[in-house]
Amino acid sequence: MLPTVHPTATKAWQQLQAHAAEMKKTHLRALFAADPKRFAAFSLQFENILFDYSKNIITAETLQLLQNLAQECGLADAVKAMFGADKINATENRAVLHTALRNTSNHPVLLDGKDVMPEVNAVLRQMEDCCTRVHNGSWKGFSGKRIRYIVNIGIGGSDLGPVMVTEALRPYWVEGIQTYFVSNVDGTHIAETLKKVTADETLFLIASKTFTTQETMTNAHTARSWFLENGGKEKDIALHFAALSTNEKAVTAFGIDPKNMFAFWDWVGGRYSLWSAIGLSIALTIGYPNFAALLAGAHATDLHFKDTPFERNIPVIMALIGLWYGNFFDADSEAILPYDQYMHRFAAYFQQGNMESNGKYTDRTGQPVDYQTGPIVWGEPGTNGQHAFYQLIHQGTKMIPCDFIAPAISHNPIGDHHPKLLSNFFAQTEALMNGKTADEVRAEGAAEDLVPFKVFTGNRPTNSFLLKQVTPRSLGALIALYEHKIFVQGVIWNIYSFDQWGVELGKQLANRILPELTDETPVSSHDASTNGLINAYKQLRK
Ligand code: F6P
Repeated sequence: MLPTVHPTATKAWQQLQAHAAEMKKTHLRALFAADPKRFAAFSLQFENILFDYSKNIITAETLQLLQNLAQECGLADAVKAMFGADKINATENRAVLHTALRNTSNHPVLLDGKDVMPEVNAVLRQMEDCCTRVHNGSWKGFSGKRIRYIVNIGIGGSDLGPVMVTEALRPYWVEGIQTYFVSNVDGTHIAETLKKVTADETLFLIASKTFTTQETMTNAHTARSWFLENGGKEKDIALHFAALSTNEKAVTAFGIDPKNMFAFWDWVGGRYSLWSAIGLSIALTIGYPNFAALLAGAHATDLHFKDTPFERNIPVIMALIGLWYGNFFDADSEAILPYDQYMHRFAAYFQQGNMESNGKYTDRTGQPVDYQTGPIVWGEPGTNGQHAFYQLIHQGTKMIPCDFIAPAISHNPIGDHHPKLLSNFFAQTEALMNGKTADEVRAEGAAEDLVPFKVFTGNRPTNSFLLKQVTPRSLGALIALYEHKIFVQGVIWNIYSFDQWGVELGKQLANRILPELTDETPVSSHDASTNGLINAYKQLRK
């Protein structure tokens, strides 16, 4: 069980409030001027990832107080509880064991006294065998041709992780395999995808933990009908459809051969499932050895997180810094800014990871919280963001802590593209930190009436992650750092990070409204606005 400490009632919280009042009087410029060793003191190297957190409005005292907060909130016990398979997802009475899926050192993980690793390893072998047969051409479609197209049908955690990882690792794609993802129930998504594939060369992966999600099941049935209309027979479905799910009964009812079912378990949260059978689209796209390297990178992070003291523990530091701004500086969003085109879905992935996990106002005792919890997470790849929304980050009225991420080595070292890209990364973090004073603006010869507009306050915090290169291993390690950051924050905020009741109401109401859209009779059972919209739709579609 997780502890239920009210964070604002701790001694550390009170001290942090007083400390924040002092820190608001200082400036990052002054902090750097006062300590020439600041970079060395506030940066850590893990695997091939350099984490520089020195451009934050923090001192050694800030970090000490934040660590005290973590201690008072029982973080050390919570970490033990998660890795020890306690049912810390208490509202669903489930353990949280995505770490077991990438437990490449294979130490036993006992859930209710039974080691889960044999089952985990069995599914990994099944995935590896599938990859081997698809990649060597022995998995043949109904016309005798090999599989060339993978279409993953899933949504949320059954889509975003595989999309993000396959995009981030495009240089590793297996030759001859083209992968597509269908998530939106908007028929356009599947229609446009099916134009690009042929029935006899496609393997559809129906990715759904529950196998009941409306969007996914609708798209899956459409794919099935299309397959049968395009030369496939009922008996061929076994060659062209696989299921990635925890729900064997529903998979069988859909008509998928049980030997094409890749199982996972209720202790894998949807948004933490790319390491499970949900990752089959990843393994088929980048090859099983690269998928294994992704798991190994995440496992390295798990060991770091589990065994490193808080003061050198990267996910703990990431979490505490985020909490510092959210709870003591009123920052309400965080930007994730990868300077790597391949990582263009990284922010979107952690938008779900973070916002579905920590977007909660009820604490673990069932009471509404009286402090901020999960931030709004957003971002786009640099340098596109620079020409879109950075203006507000530099000169807007909101504090937006940013994570800058870049590889030192590009997979496409063309001319001076990469130095130019990275010069922007470094310049942005420097500009956000230093800003520009009125005197500096004047020294550049600006007209006096323009000075106020050209001043930058600076003092805008950033973290920098400099990877040697984006590889399966380094990406796995990086993703797991962010996952554990979310966990740490949830523990301190005294909320349950692994349920998602907040998405249920919309689903329920959509199910109630759907039958009302089948005929032309005006509806009056809702509020005036909803009735008005539904009735206008019924008129417009005529
Ligand atoms: O959006 C709610 C949610 O339950 C997510 O947590 C999950 O990732 C997604 O729906 C898809 O669920 P499933 O894998 O069961 O289709």
